[in-house]
Amino acid sequence: MDIRKLLADMTLEEKLGQLTQLNAIFFKKDNTVDITGPVSRLGIAEEEALLSGSTLNFIGAKDMKEIQDIALAHQPHKIPLLFMQDVIHGYRTIYPIPLGMGCTFDEELVEECARMSGKEAAVSGVHVTFSPMLDLVRDARWGRVMESTGEDPHLNGRLGAAFVRGYQGDDLTGKYDIAACVKHFAAYGAPEAGRDYNAVEMSEHTLRETYLPGYRACIDAGVEMIMPSFNTVGGVPSTCNRLLLDRILRKEWQFDGIVISDYNAYREMIKHGVAEDDKHAAELAINAGCDIEMMSATTYLHAKELLDEGKITMEQIDRAVLRVLDLKDRLGLFENPYRAASEDEEKALHLCPAHRDLACRAAEEASVLLKNEGVLPFDKSVRKVAVIGPFAKEQGIKGFWACAGRDEDCVTVLSGIRALLPDAEVATVRGCSWELGETEVPDLEEAIELSSEADAVVLCLGEYQQHTGEGNSRATLTLSPAQMKLAEAVIKHNKNTAAVIFGGRPLVLTDLAQIVPAMLYVWQPGTEGGNAVANLLFGEVNPSGKLSMTFPYAEGQCPIYYSHMHTGRPVKRPKTVYEGGYSSRYLDVPVAPLYAFGHGLSYTTYAYDQLILSDEVMTPAAPLEIGVTVTNTGTRAGKETVQLYIRDKVASVARPVLELKDFAKLELAPGESAAVIFTLTEEDLAFHTADGTFAAERGEFEVFVGPNSEELLQATFRFEK
Ligand code: GLC
Repeated sequence: MDIRKLLADMTLEEKLGQLTQLNAIFFKKDNTVDITGPVSRLGIAEEEALLSGSTLNFIGAKDMKEIQDIALAHQPHKIPLLFMQDVIHGYRTIYPIPLGMGCTFDEELVEECARMSGKEAAVSGVHVTFSPMLDLVRDARWGRVMESTGEDPHLNGRLGAAFVRGYQGDDLTGKYDIAACVKHFAAYGAPEAGRDYNAVEMSEHTLRETYLPGYRACIDAGVEMIMPSFNTVGGVPSTCNRLLLDRILRKEWQFDGIVISDYNAYREMIKHGVAEDDKHAAELAINAGCDIEMMSATTYLHAKELLDEGKITMEQIDRAVLRVLDLKDRLGLFENPYRAASEDEEKALHLCPAHRDLACRAAEEASVLLKNEGVLPFDKSVRKVAVIGPFAKEQGIKGFWACAGRDEDCVTVLSGIRALLPDAEVATVRGCSWELGETEVPDLEEAIELSSEADAVVLCLGEYQQHTGEGNSRATLTLSPAQMKLAEAVIKHNKNTAAVIFGGRPLVLTDLAQIVPAMLYVWQPGTEGGNAVANLLFGEVNPSGKLSMTFPYAEGQCPIYYSHMHTGRPVKRPKTVYEGGYSSRYLDVPVAPLYAFGHGLSYTTYAYDQLILSDEVMTPAAPLEIGVTVTNTGTRAGKETVQLYIRDKVASVARPVLELKDFAKLELAPGESAAVIFTLTEEDLAFHTADGTFAAERGEFEVFVGPNSEELLQATFRFEK
């Protein structure tokens, strides 16, 4: 398609339509919502709404084709609609939430899962996914930590790029390739007080050093689209933030893809108190560099006036429209507006055995064994198993953003265990609800009876999926009193108990950790959760997940993360309380978290030794090699993620006590050793210096290698240049 000729033939209304994205209900002939209702709320007529260039929140190939036909019938130049959807961690077959996928430290697995979900979405008519979400997260109070891969820029960047590759393939020419949209630009994961949509206040240094690299990694991986965040950064909403959208994104990073606002974010600038009215909102967003306006119509309604008043230019409008037409062209929509949409392929691919197997493997690799005092794995020969708790038979384990996923497709823990142990007697009782703050345990007596008689007890606790995600921040992160009461009673009557914990964030498990001998954190594991849990609990699979986000000892520590600053008065023993006065301590809790970034146990053990450096001095021309030998010293095969950290001891700005710079995931048989060699380059040592340049500074560095951010072999080297 000659999109420049097409642009030249388009009317202004057609162009403005291409920059407007409306919910699918606006296109349905028999929609259940009065078409004049939402349209009138937006202030546009039905005919105008049908000129929109893209849509979201539709489900299925049939839906998509109907909507595409309606749109094409109204488009003077037959410009096809772009169909977008939140395919965050699966489409119909749901794999673990991204925070759990972060714990896999496995780029291939993430890419494979993104590929699978992109395929399922493509046959249902999706052209673009609003994923990956690269908001770095350090505050478990924020509900959307579940959507992020965690607290570390390096890990997030590598996994974000893997998501982009999985969705987009090489160049969008593959039948099942879908375009990706990295979000939410920027630093949405750092709202004050952990409260969603709240202001983000940080220095440009911290923004650039910590929060931006993840998005940049996705742009370097070729992501097609980016979505500014709802929040303000430095007092300016991201939707009209020229530092973010113009200086950094367009000029420094040279991104020429589509910038699409978040839902109604243009008009929310009025609530922020930055835009006077809809027209002013459109002016601010367009001049900052936004292209498509999601679910509001200020561009459509006011761009002509703004053009006449010289407040925006036709060149801005044309450049934005060309970006949209170019993506449609490269997706082949002008030739085939339905693209891969196929009801037959939906039936063949959605929830097919291969996709369920992948979702199960992902749930196994995302789970983290937090504690195990000789209880796990349970013996498969057990005769009587008690599965107790609000998540024993819960099918709502797919997570908050599960797109076309359905609870009824999810395998429960009870079903998974019964499938694995067909000859065992597997009894269950809920005990209590998963409601926040629940105090009642109506089935306590039955739970005590079941656990007393069982050979093994699986205690299924945690946070319900709809208590996580967008708009769902929490100020308390502990389990409910009812869940703790149930746990205390069960464990008192059977020490052979393991807790399986569901959640969309690091919960505060300090009290539970005091009484339960084993804890397996499974996040919201998705469609195959119950089978994955059964495989892990009974040793079919050896746990290998490593925490991608720090677990606080108490809510009051939030935000808490491993790559913190040393301060001028560090505490000497972070795991104790009542440290000496005038230090960076708490009077009532330790400074250290309950479980650190990178923590994750296994059913086997590993030894790390022979940390060897290729030299004591590193130069720009002579990168440093760091070697370590890792041995499986246990009796089971397992996967181990070896982590490499550095510390820049003296620099022009204070530097974190640790920074992850590389990781490698090994598979080792019992007794097997592997030599891992990492390479550090000058780029790895570079940071945003006091004078604002991005460079490595000469001086002494410490290098660390280990299984997590606390147990580390250490060596020093100098960087000279
Ligand atoms: C939501 C979210 C964003 C999502 C969009 C479309 O409010 O902030 O992540 O992609 O709307 O559903």
